[in-house]
Amino acid sequence: FRTLDQADVKGKRVLVRVDLNVPMENGRVTDATRIERVLPTIQEIADKGGKVILLAHFGRPKGRDPKESLKPVAEAVSSHLGKPVAFADDCIGGAASQAVNALKDGDVLLLENTRFHAGEEKNDPAFVQELAKLGDIYVNDAFSAAHRAHASTEGLARALPSYAGRTMQAELDALTKGLEAPKRPVVAIVGGAKVSTKIDLLENLVSKVDALVIGGGMANTFLHAMGLGIGKSLAEKDLAETAMRIFARARETNCAIILPVDGVCAYEFKAGAQNHTYGIDAIPEDQMILDVGSQSVERVNSAINDAATLVWNGPLGAFEIAPFDQGTVAAARHAAERTKAGKLVSVAGGGDTVAALNHAGVTETFSYVSTAGGAFLEWLEGKSLPGVEALKA
Ligand code: 3PG
Repeated sequence: FRTLDQADVKGKRVLVRVDLNVPMENGRVTDATRIERVLPTIQEIADKGGKVILLAHFGRPKGRDPKESLKPVAEAVSSHLGKPVAFADDCIGGAASQAVNALKDGDVLLLENTRFHAGEEKNDPAFVQELAKLGDIYVNDAFSAAHRAHASTEGLARALPSYAGRTMQAELDALTKGLEAPKRPVVAIVGGAKVSTKIDLLENLVSKVDALVIGGGMANTFLHAMGLGIGKSLAEKDLAETAMRIFARARETNCAIILPVDGVCAYEFKAGAQNHTYGIDAIPEDQMILDVGSQSVERVNSAINDAATLVWNGPLGAFEIAPFDQGTVAAARHAAERTKAGKLVSVAGGGDTVAALNHAGVTETFSYVSTAGGAFLEWLEGKSLPGVEALKA
């Protein structure tokens, strides 16, 4: 696909799809990673004399909902960018076109949440046309929303001359290096609590990687499927059959599966809860596994030592609260050390994973950290992403 290198933006109205779906609390942005990632594209277009018109979604509103307005995000983008960012309280119609007409070359405007209109998620051609009227060219810089075939991610790319933004390019480059033709052996770590949304990924992944480390709530589902007692641990027990299928597939493809051999257990999920480490075949019935134990961490670290490439999605334990963050932090720091020593290419993605790496203080040391959650997973699964495909058309 074409990139900003091929785009002539001077004096043009440039519709730029960005992902500003950032975590917020009480009207304040609590993690600005996604904002920082889109600055280079905005800056470059503005510097080259384009009129930057930002399009983004926020949350999953059903119709117009002031709680999911992008207005506070416009202020945050402005302060990170160091220049004013105008805001229009609709992404189509009179308010939008007036705001666009008021732009001078190099100015930046953010339009209100595209999901306030049903046509966005339906990829409705009439809504696509309303958006397309506002711009001369289209730039997609939202890799993390590229798994959605929506009007602002897919439809517009087909309606206007379209280009990939710098973050889109960087994400695709890094992921391609990380997994399309990775240096072997490749080890994947998959953890986290959202088992049912990720289990399909595993079936696909075992045919691509040399070893798969399973942690977090995901591991419990597998341990249960193997007939081990997991007490009150989080697990999706109805996925036992799927888990067994994944074991079988891993045997066929020669992929080692590494599961916890011990677990840090507590009676309740609470910060500082009294806890104890048990062997994986001795988990008490009235307790829950909240982190991997130290012997498991050793195994994970030794898998990392054997790897040339590491792909990580999902924490190994309930990293949000201490002391159940220790397994994830230890493995993340070990991967960071190997990376720093030039022995490992480490690629990570997903909201919780990025938060866990930030918490471990290693985000900067990893070879690449993707801002994408769902899109990262679908990419790993080998699915084609509609937002990326449309840019190639
Ligand atoms: C994300 O947060 O992963 C992206 O912004 C996509 O959001 P969505 O899952 O609501 O489509």
